[in-house]
Amino acid sequence: MKSLPNPKLTVLMVSWGKVLLSGVRSASGEGNLPPTKASGKPGRARWFPRIPARSVVALKTPIKVELVEGKTYRWCVCGRSKKQPFCDGSHFFQRTGLSPLKFKAQETRTVALCTCKATQRPPYCDGTHRSERVQKAEVGSPL
Ligand code: FES
Repeated sequence: MKSLPNPKLTVLMVSWGKVLLSGVRSASGEGNLPPTKASGKPGRARWFPRIPARSVVALKTPIKVELVEGKTYRWCVCGRSKKQPFCDGSHFFQRTGLSPLKFKAQETRTVALCTCKATQRPPYCDGTHRSERVQKAEVGSPL
């Protein structure tokens, strides 16, 4: 006796050399992708939001680090990194739509890097963290 295919398996179709992945299906046969249209029908899943999330206050004081000449760093823009002031990939895994600021140190020296994410001179601290607006904000919330 021939068994029926499992309806929960991913359906993989090959059409004229193109591989089409139709996604995981529910037992009822409906796609399990979240509805993205006003009609409520399943749509394409999105990895990133159309509008980027806002940066959140990671800390209210800068962190002093020694930058090494010629080395490239990725400064956390989203404020969600656990390795402040540098990026740990949280912006991606939390689907913020934000990207870290990549910069190359011009000389070896100790600098204060911003962690409040309100500086006007990223990635460097410009003293904005002392403002009432930042000091009243909660850590982990946007300004
Ligand atoms: S820590 Fe952000 S401006 Fe100082």
